[in-house]
Amino acid sequence: MRTIEWESGAVKMIDQRVLPGRFEIAVYRDYRDVARAIAEMVIRGAPAIGAAAAFGLALAAQQTTTHDRLTLLRELEEAAAVLRAARPTAVNLGWALGRLLRVAVAEDLDSADDVREALLREAQRLADEDVEINKRMAKNGAALISDGDTLLHHCNTGALATVDYGTALGVIRMAHEQGKRIHVLVDETRPRLQGARLTAWELKQLGLPFDLIADNAAGHFMRTGQVNAVFVGADRIAANGDVANKIGTYKLAVVAKENGVPFYSVAPTSTVDLSLAIGDLIPIEERNGREVLGLEFEGESVVPEGITARNPAFDVTPHRYVTAIVTEKSVVYPPFVRNLERAVNGE
Ligand code: MRU
Repeated sequence: MRTIEWESGAVKMIDQRVLPGRFEIAVYRDYRDVARAIAEMVIRGAPAIGAAAAFGLALAAQQTTTHDRLTLLRELEEAAAVLRAARPTAVNLGWALGRLLRVAVAEDLDSADDVREALLREAQRLADEDVEINKRMAKNGAALISDGDTLLHHCNTGALATVDYGTALGVIRMAHEQGKRIHVLVDETRPRLQGARLTAWELKQLGLPFDLIADNAAGHFMRTGQVNAVFVGADRIAANGDVANKIGTYKLAVVAKENGVPFYSVAPTSTVDLSLAIGDLIPIEERNGREVLGLEFEGESVVPEGITARNPAFDVTPHRYVTAIVTEKSVVYPPFVRNLERAVNGE
């Protein structure tokens, strides 16, 4: 199934907290539970979060029984605020809600029921488009990969991080489907281990050759010439090309530049936030320190009791470290200020 689907008046998601040990589907009939699912990372990854917010708002519209269009619109604004607060960094969340709210206020919708139907149609359209966009992005990006390449990948940017197919991992998957013999070095991605748990699970199913590496090993592999390119996703890209992505991305990009390894960020244009001039303006989520402290080795906690941790979930990679940004429109090279704007607003 897709990462997220609408079925019989409910939102269904693959529960990513329990993979790869268990494959479970979470079912939600209340938009507040969808917001909680985003915050608790039942569903995660920027485009998947956007789709969850869209279905969440469509669900909010179904939950209320009002026949009054204006009352419904007010309730939708409240629901959107709850969904928007679930996670701050991925711009796709606010982008998806904005898109649905614009549909909700369309003048040709006369009744509350018209609004309900239009919202559900739009959420479904957004989810379908995500899959198409990912495949276009994958084709654009796969052209950057040569037969025999070894690629380094961070976090999970695969089907699970999107409605289906993936962003950076979608590019790698497309190259594999095109018959290129490639190998992937998969960063574990502490502290939530999206690489070890989710990317490894996806690549195994695709039959795509890979090795899992400790995050700390990435520099070694780049310095010793064993990596041809780094592919990562993005949670938000500022107008100047600065990329906010999973914590640890910045360190990878610096080491990649130092060693002459191309560094690509793969993201749909909905991840580009032209309203923010530079990456320093992107809100960085700081999650509970328990995610860092909870690591166990052979059944025992690895940390002394009573200590504290800092846990920023994302970092910003300045654009000077980014070789190119792969979007569904094109592969965007510097100068990003001009070329990103063209990619977002042009055809
Ligand atoms: O905290 P997560 O797992 O939601 O973070 C996901 C990432 O950082 C991905 O790399 C990003 O969303 C882009 S890939 C779809």
